[in-house]
Amino acid sequence: MTVQDPPGRYSRRRALAFGAVGLTAGTLGAGAGVAGANIAENNPPAGPGSRFAGKVVLITGATSGIGEATARAMAGEGAKVVFCGRRLELGQQVEASVRSAGGDATFVRADVRSENEVRDLVDGCVSRHGRLDIAVNNAGIESPRAARLHEQSMTDMEEVWRTNVGGVFLGMKYQIPRMLAQGGGSIINTASISAEVGFATIAPYNSSKHAVASLTKVAALEYAADRIRINAFAPGAVDTPMLRRAAAAFGVSYDQIAQDYPIKRIVRPEEIAAVVMWLASDESSAMAGTDVDASGGYLAG
Ligand SMILES: NC(=O)c1ccc[n+]([C@@H]2O[C@H](COP(=O)([O-])OP(=O)(O)OC[C@H]3O[C@@H](n4cnc5c(N)ncnc54)[C@H](OP(=O)(O)O)[C@@H]3O)[C@@H](O)[C@H]2O)c1
Repeated sequence: MTVQDPPGRYSRRRALAFGAVGLTAGTLGAGAGVAGANIAENNPPAGPGSRFAGKVVLITGATSGIGEATARAMAGEGAKVVFCGRRLELGQQVEASVRSAGGDATFVRADVRSENEVRDLVDGCVSRHGRLDIAVNNAGIESPRAARLHEQSMTDMEEVWRTNVGGVFLGMKYQIPRMLAQGGGSIINTASISAEVGFATIAPYNSSKHAVASLTKVAALEYAADRIRINAFAPGAVDTPMLRRAAAAFGVSYDQIAQDYPIKRIVRPEEIAAVVMWLASDESSAMAGTDVDASGGYLAG
């Protein structure tokens, strides 16, 4: 706890933003390190449909978590999904799983910190499918450690910014020309409630997500007249490996985390995928430059 954080506020402002994890936390298995998971039980993933039939969708960071759920849901509604991540085996597993369910998904190993790899990812997607209709710039990492600003390292700042900000910047830099050439498209960037309010001890993550919201607004203004809609969404606490790492690092249970959200539960990745799909679809045709609160009401308080 930092000296200026009043009790009670601390957990809300730091741990529950989960922008930082202990350096040794590592990736935990489902439920490891958390007690009493308070996850919605009755929210089935999107069923088979054709809302995105024939649409070409590129997703960064879909080897796990929100990106994976979005890839599965998009493919389940007829999209041709190309997705990336750094973990080869996991990416191939997700690809095979989507295909075995009848979907169209292609995993490309790519690191969003590399301009060449992001450019090749976008080029490869268009080479394969002939166009790019929807892009979801989702790849992200948490702060490597919790610390007040004067104790943060430039190394951690650069690492988080290169992934969270650089990845979104590079994604849009190479996606937008393709969409300009074909007369439009929809881009969705993964921000966070951490893009909208400050959270103590996680300067790298918190500032990076503010930058994602900023990039989203700037790009939305620049390309709205070209029929490219660009929006972001702001998850709160979602049951993914990132949240599990953070919960373990901070020693808090899912039930404790859930108490800081008006809906009093942890959101499932499939619920976030539904928000992404709505933002990607023409159903949200009036939206541009937004950061949609998908936290279960955190930002309303
Ligand atoms: N879970 C939450 O409660 C929550 C709340 C607010 C915002 N978010 C945001 O949601 C996004 C997804 O996170 P998640 O919760 O789903 O966690 P996650 O399961 O850890 O997923 C993160 C994804 O990003 C990928 N990634 C990370 N660095 C990358 C890089 N340099 N190049 C390419 N891919 C990279 C990871 O793949 P590889 O490891 O295979 O590279 C993984 O697929 C992040 O932007 C995160 O900040 C999450």
